[in-house]
Amino acid sequence: MIPKNVIEEIKNRLDIVDVISEYINLERVGQYYRALCPFHTETRPSFYVSPKLQRYKCFGCGASGDIIKFVQEMENISFYEALEKLAKKAGIDLSKYSKTSSKSEYSIYTAFYEKLKDLYKKELLKNEKALIYLKEKRKLPEEDIVRFEFGYSPADSKLPIVVAKELNLSLEMLMRTGVVFRTAKGVRDIFENRIVIPIKNESGNTIAFGGRILDEGEPKYINSKDTKYFSKSRTLFLLDAAKNYIRKLDMVIVTEGYFDAIALHRAGLENTVAVLGTALTLQHAMRLSNLSKNIILAFDSDEAGKRAAIRSIDVLLSRGFDILVVDYGDYKDADSLYTKEGKDGIERVFEKAISFEQFIVDYYKERYDLSTPSGVERFANAIGEWGKRIASHASSVRVEALVKYASDVSGLSQKDLEKFVRSPSVSIHEVRKKIGINEEIAFLFFNYEDVRKEILDLPRDILGNCLKEILNGYESTKDLNQTMENLSKECGDWIFNVLKDTPLPSDYQKVLKDIKRRLELKKLTKRLKEIDMHLNSAADEEKRVLLRARMDIVRKMKSLQRG
Ligand code: UTP
Ligand code: MN
Repeated sequence: MIPKNVIEEIKNRLDIVDVISEYINLERVGQYYRALCPFHTETRPSFYVSPKLQRYKCFGCGASGDIIKFVQEMENISFYEALEKLAKKAGIDLSKYSKTSSKSEYSIYTAFYEKLKDLYKKELLKNEKALIYLKEKRKLPEEDIVRFEFGYSPADSKLPIVVAKELNLSLEMLMRTGVVFRTAKGVRDIFENRIVIPIKNESGNTIAFGGRILDEGEPKYINSKDTKYFSKSRTLFLLDAAKNYIRKLDMVIVTEGYFDAIALHRAGLENTVAVLGTALTLQHAMRLSNLSKNIILAFDSDEAGKRAAIRSIDVLLSRGFDILVVDYGDYKDADSLYTKEGKDGIERVFEKAISFEQFIVDYYKERYDLSTPSGVERFANAIGEWGKRIASHASSVRVEALVKYASDVSGLSQKDLEKFVRSPSVSIHEVRKKIGINEEIAFLFFNYEDVRKEILDLPRDILGNCLKEILNGYESTKDLNQTMENLSKECGDWIFNVLKDTPLPSDYQKVLKDIKRRLELKKLTKRLKEIDMHLNSAADEEKRVLLRARMDIVRKMKSLQRG
């Protein structure tokens, strides 16, 4: 236990404005400081910090507290762990108090990763093949192998177990580090025979690894499983190194892969981070928006990369970002461009980055056949939907730019295109109605992290089998990639087509609301059928009860159909 007066002393020595400023950009307004709330999505700042009271409060989501609570929530750590961090900053030694209380789980976790990282690094030096791969195939000079702390997990690696023994970890705790799996013969390292790259949190502590197979093979990459301190949808690779550059340059670059981010750092663009095999999530956007609102999407040039960029634009607009998009032309990604053409190649490509409006137009131009009337209509609809979305988040100048580019490439007049932007999206709305409800739900589940919980709470018994398989799978693994990998072939194909064919909604919250209404209708229809079946064989008294229930249901259905 730490005495109250020591906690007070820590708080007295630190200023809440300094502490919070390490995470988000505060702007002074009168006697307060203000920012976009890091704990919920918003476009207008309602997060206030009072230096006088040494407390923060968000009028949007109600979050409030002192510095300890802030650090705790921001870093997703315990009270004690937050206190340890702050004590260090305040120059107060807590060790004499913590003798009785055991070490915090977070400090055990990071100590485990630190030690394991060192062992992996040593293994790399012993492994000729892995070294050749990095130096020759990936063209990494020794200093960069050291700088990014590459390591190697050998065949039959016992390293996680060695570290666990050394730190006296229980088997249960070892399992919770996300680097091992259980087999009949005991616990094994998930990274065996892979190059490992440390993934760090913002404080620079290693909290996960990415593991790449040498040369070809599937899966190409695996990551530590999601843990209490690591989640793919929150963590950004190299953010610890990039953070200050992002602030200073007021600009962040996002790539898709580890090696791409590393290549850009090597090329001197040190304000670069990478997502870990996902599109940019709302949590990523929220975190970045407190560092800078200017972003360059530098995803791969293949179809998957383009799709990830388009989805990311959707998320980023809602957080008020200004977005540029990079195109590597004939190169697959930043890493392959850098390997071939070096810094000059990278600079050339970044100088030619295009606005997100132009990217959107090019994206649909390539997908729809503008030489046919139906292609033109779909193109115009897509532009119309984006126009609406941009209008609700950014200035009308951006919508005009979108319409102008779209007009240039399609030959449609700006006036005609504007109609699609302004129309209450009749045609797209009709298209959406035709999308099956299971497909619609699956699409939202994959693309919009913030509605996942709501979707998991939907009445599952009336959902389709593949959707059920996905939701059940996600509930047990808590990991979308893994869920995908475990799917049956049939459902794997199904979800692939859903993700490919479903258009982006202009307002996904509204779509979800509509889904709920449709599900409710489905449930009522099912009950109506049951009642009708019973009615045939019911006795008089029972019939009356059933008919009353029936009327009730019909009334509910009518009102749902109207709404
Ligand atoms: P890519 O397939 O584009 O990999 O996936 P890459 O970065 O170009 O790989 P190299 O250059 O061949 O080594 C981009 C990112 O998606 C995630 C990884 O984070 C990867 O960097 N990914 C990819 C996985 O998580 N699992 C995979 O099997 C593949
Ligand atoms: Mn790539």
